[in-house]
Amino acid sequence: MRQSAALPISRRGLAGLAAGAALAGAFPPRPALAQGAPLRVGLMLPFSGTFAALGENIAAAIELHLAERGGRMGGRAVQLIRLDDESNPANAVQNVNRLLGRERAEVLIGTVHSGVVMALVQAARERGVPLIIPNAGNASATRELCAPTIFRTSFTNWQPAYGMGLALGREGVRRAAWVTWDYAAGNEAGEGFREGLRASGGEVVRELKLPFPETNFQPLLAQIPGLEVQAVGSFFAGGGAVQFVREYAAAGLKERIPLTGSGFLTEGVLAAQGAAAEGIRTALHYGDGLDNPKNNAFRAAFRERTGREADVYAVQGYDAAQLLGIGMDAARGDVSAEREWVRAMRAARIDSPRGAFTLSPSHNPVQNIYLREARGGQNRVVGIAAEALADPGTGCRMA
Ligand code: PHB
Repeated sequence: MRQSAALPISRRGLAGLAAGAALAGAFPPRPALAQGAPLRVGLMLPFSGTFAALGENIAAAIELHLAERGGRMGGRAVQLIRLDDESNPANAVQNVNRLLGRERAEVLIGTVHSGVVMALVQAARERGVPLIIPNAGNASATRELCAPTIFRTSFTNWQPAYGMGLALGREGVRRAAWVTWDYAAGNEAGEGFREGLRASGGEVVRELKLPFPETNFQPLLAQIPGLEVQAVGSFFAGGGAVQFVREYAAAGLKERIPLTGSGFLTEGVLAAQGAAAEGIRTALHYGDGLDNPKNNAFRAAFRERTGREADVYAVQGYDAAQLLGIGMDAARGDVSAEREWVRAMRAARIDSPRGAFTLSPSHNPVQNIYLREARGGQNRVVGIAAEALADPGTGCRMA
């Protein structure tokens, strides 16, 4: 039984969960449905730190979709409760407890960082609280720790990097290096890159890493010329990606050894990267110039509302809100009607700006991974690296 005692979750419990252990009760119980009360949706996202811009775009796009629905889901007014998680795993458990306790959130949407998301996954598993992940690619959330109440509208870290590796091998790359932050996202993306490259005839001969969110890239960059590789793959995002791309170019590497990676490397940051990003190819489940009616309308509405251009983070947030709307409509706003909202969300076909997608049996998007090239401030789609790619979902057993 998932319903829990009103005890705070422990950090030791989180470590156990990461190792795949099943945990008993640690979060406050689900509040009873008050007649006519707004649906309280906790948004746990980074609004400060290296991923701040990512969290802001996710939140803005959720608000956009909610506004398009007249502020209601399943017949209830929706109240969004923002919490800045700072992409800091050390505070993750405490932040989730605050949303479920003092803030009385009935639904959770979050987060960006693959370590921080583990506390949300634990809450969803223990309490049956609906969780929609609008970014964090931690594979375990839709592999061994999958659960009926956990959904993702983004990707697994494996997906885009697998597509990039596949594309490079097909072009004849036999030796590549992988450069990243040393945490779940960077390491899982590295696995995807290695697998994709291997499937098309190449090898990752070296991994170079630094702790998240450090940006002391020089010692890593200094090693690259000696590796005799034909390409570099990478996972960085947000502020860290701006700096990495600029320093890679400044070190004189850009013209000698093509820099590639999961598309987060150049996503939402091209203006700040400037000429250093020009020509960089990456793989992602979104790209600029995808010419479908949903994307065109979404981009115009997002620009109108925020004064910013949409990016993949905005798309994922918008789709998280769409998915929640589908679930809550099916359950008539009653979060305790778990069977109804789970069934509707599992079967959903999301009309996404990235192109329509469905969810795999482990609740992760099945989606095209586009090959993109940065040109004139846009990540232009130049091909499809992997069509309708599903994460393998290894080890997922739905309760
Ligand atoms: C992650 O930690 O899972 C993560 C963070 C930023 C991204 C993508 C993935 O852009």
